[in-house]
Amino acid sequence: MESQEKKQLRSYFLEFRKLIAHKKTRSQKIIKQLTVLPEFKNAAHILLYDGTENEVSTEGLIKRCIARKKHVYLPVLKNIGIAEVTDINTLRPNKLKILEPVVKSAGLKSASFVKSFDLIDLAIVPGLAFDRMGFRLGHGSGFYDKLLEKLPEKTRLIGLAFQEQIVNVLPQEPHDHKMDMILTDEGIIALVKAKPNG
Ligand SMILES: Nc1ncnc2c1ncn2[C@@H]1O[C@H](COP(=O)(O)OP(=O)(O)OP(=O)(O)O)[C@@H](O)[C@H]1O
Ligand SMILES: [Mg+2]
Repeated sequence: MESQEKKQLRSYFLEFRKLIAHKKTRSQKIIKQLTVLPEFKNAAHILLYDGTENEVSTEGLIKRCIARKKHVYLPVLKNIGIAEVTDINTLRPNKLKILEPVVKSAGLKSASFVKSFDLIDLAIVPGLAFDRMGFRLGHGSGFYDKLLEKLPEKTRLIGLAFQEQIVNVLPQEPHDHKMDMILTDEGIIALVKAKPNG
């Protein structure tokens, strides 16, 4: 079964990712490539992630975006939401020990919270692995798939990964979202988004 295959790939990449060398310098290389892209330069509202130690590091990117007056959002575990970050020091670890903005529970249901999804020009997405068609393998909770579901059609999706995390084909299910582009330390994998009716 497909999901069984995903499960096996997940446990493989969880271990394999730990062995990837020079993550810090290679992350910087990936981020540098991202920041010269028009998709990044032109984006005013960006959904980022705060990387765990084995993912492409984004801390510098978050600070840089805030300094450049871009609107930066990070995922919030509860309610599969996102919230804007204006000061990286205000982030707190969630139950998965990933830093996230502190959102007051009343705010989660507010109209402005939902509205912010429509503003997102660009979403930067982590993953355990990506394939050459743009599909991603995550941790398996479906969190990112559900989050990406909420984004408008216009949002460009860019996955970040070390080259070792790229595979030819991943198992794919109907709820899996496809990236528009994947950036690794060895270059860009650009994918053409299939447009309905055209
Ligand atoms: N849009 C969705 N709506 C409802 N359930 C979903 C949705 N997307 C994913 N799921 C559920 O989440 C489970 C895990 O999804 P999947 O195996 O694609 O995880 P993943 O993409 O690897 O992980 P993650 O998204 O957490 O990084 C699926 O079995 C599915 O039932
Ligand atoms: Mg998925």
